[in-house]
Amino acid sequence: MRVRGKQAIETGPPLLEREPSLALLNEYAAQAAGGEGRLVLLSGEAGVGKSALVERLCRDLPDARWSWSMCDGLFTPRPLGPLFDLADQLGGALLERCRDGADREELFRTLLGQVSASGVLDVVVVEDIHWADEATLDLLRYLSRRLRGAEVLLIATYRDDGLAANDPLRVTLGDLGSQRGTRRAGLMPLSPEAVRTLAGGSGLPAPELYRLTGGNPFYVTEVLRAGMEEVPPSARDAVLARAARLSDDAREVLDIAALTGARVEARLLESVTGYPPSVLDELLESGLLVGDGAWVRFRHEIARLAVAHAVAGHRGQVIHGLVLAALRSFGCDDDARMAFHAESADDGATALRYAAAAADRAAQLKSHREAAAQYERALRFAAGGSGDARRAARRARRRDSAARPVGRRRDGGGARAGPVARGRRPAAGGGRAAAAVPHQVEPVPRSRGRRRR
Ligand SMILES: Nc1ncnc2c1ncn2[C@@H]1O[C@H](COP(=O)(O)OP(=O)(O)O)[C@@H](O)[C@H]1O
Ligand SMILES: [Mg+2]
Repeated sequence: MRVRGKQAIETGPPLLEREPSLALLNEYAAQAAGGEGRLVLLSGEAGVGKSALVERLCRDLPDARWSWSMCDGLFTPRPLGPLFDLADQLGGALLERCRDGADREELFRTLLGQVSASGVLDVVVVEDIHWADEATLDLLRYLSRRLRGAEVLLIATYRDDGLAANDPLRVTLGDLGSQRGTRRAGLMPLSPEAVRTLAGGSGLPAPELYRLTGGNPFYVTEVLRAGMEEVPPSARDAVLARAARLSDDAREVLDIAALTGARVEARLLESVTGYPPSVLDELLESGLLVGDGAWVRFRHEIARLAVAHAVAGHRGQVIHGLVLAALRSFGCDDDARMAFHAESADDGATALRYAAAAADRAAQLKSHREAAAQYERALRFAAGGSGDARRAARRARRRDSAARPVGRRRDGGGARAGPVARGRRPAAGGGRAAAAVPHQVEPVPRSRGRRRR
């Protein structure tokens, strides 16, 4: 996300039971401000309050320069997507290098130079690194080794629930943890007392709210916001109950946003639907979406998934086609994003073209996993493609000769982030995407397996 809505950060609701974690983060920030750069690995289950805590820290450090970036759980990501987010905010040489298509060593060097030389504390946030592409994990390694002497607080958040034993993130976490400047912080769900406080005058029985939510703050607050008379069995039900109260127009926009990704340009939604901005206002007022500069995003990935999975397959295909056309008209240069929508719209020739280009760029940035995934996608469509497209796929294959075997596929529509119930594992092929997430969250049907890569 380009810039976090500052207003939302300043006026956010109070956080319960986070004083010790906040004090710890402030301590690391003070050390970083004193020239002892820190990498903080902030972990916890989906919805436990990692992002909310970092946003809260932002209020405590108004003089620092904040840059936010995130990894997207929807599709095989553009390599170094978070670095491009940071470049948009930091501007200067980094933005220029990104536009020039510089190699990754130069991009890494430029980013480090820019955040270490500003003369103020730089806080750099990389959210949700359980979805990070391989090059982004390398970027974190690069930075973690060079933070000494830099006035930089680097915060990386991730879900620690359901990480497979062979997940690349585990290896990365091991590497990052061995650096002197690295600190770890973990968040636990809320206690029964905190849930009772949140339940306040809602009329809902606090013990039942706690029993069903397990103290997961997202689930608790979603139930309360939905104003339900009974605690629903899952966060998904609470989200859908809220969505059901929207006007038809707003619901349509919400569905489109859900299929577009963790964040979506407001103008894209307007272009695809033709609805006036007032429809978006309704969604922002409902709290299902939050504003983020020129972008909007779901309050949480769990909410996005709940809405996305309720969209019928045939309608989803049409929506992806419309989003693809709108992105094209905007001159979108993110081939990975285009390839995802093209495949989801069943537009084989276009998917092949963008997947081949995305594979090329991923290989160039040494993001081998993403190169291999795009190359696989290109091949799936190569048989029916034009001569040009087939050549593009072959070129991608050659360029990706260094790619490692893809032992498991990485994502698939929403499945990549699919919350799974306690103790349950995805049926097949879910990769880390669908690995176990918090027990409070109901499994989301994986109806769009077609999109799995
Ligand atoms: N300590 C807390 N007290 C009260 N509400 C919280 C707390 N932490 C998070 N929340 C609520 O839960 C929601 C989900 O938190 P979020 O930070 O997005 O989760 P995560 O980033 O860990 O997935 C937030 O939007 C906020 O409304
Ligand atoms: Mg988060």
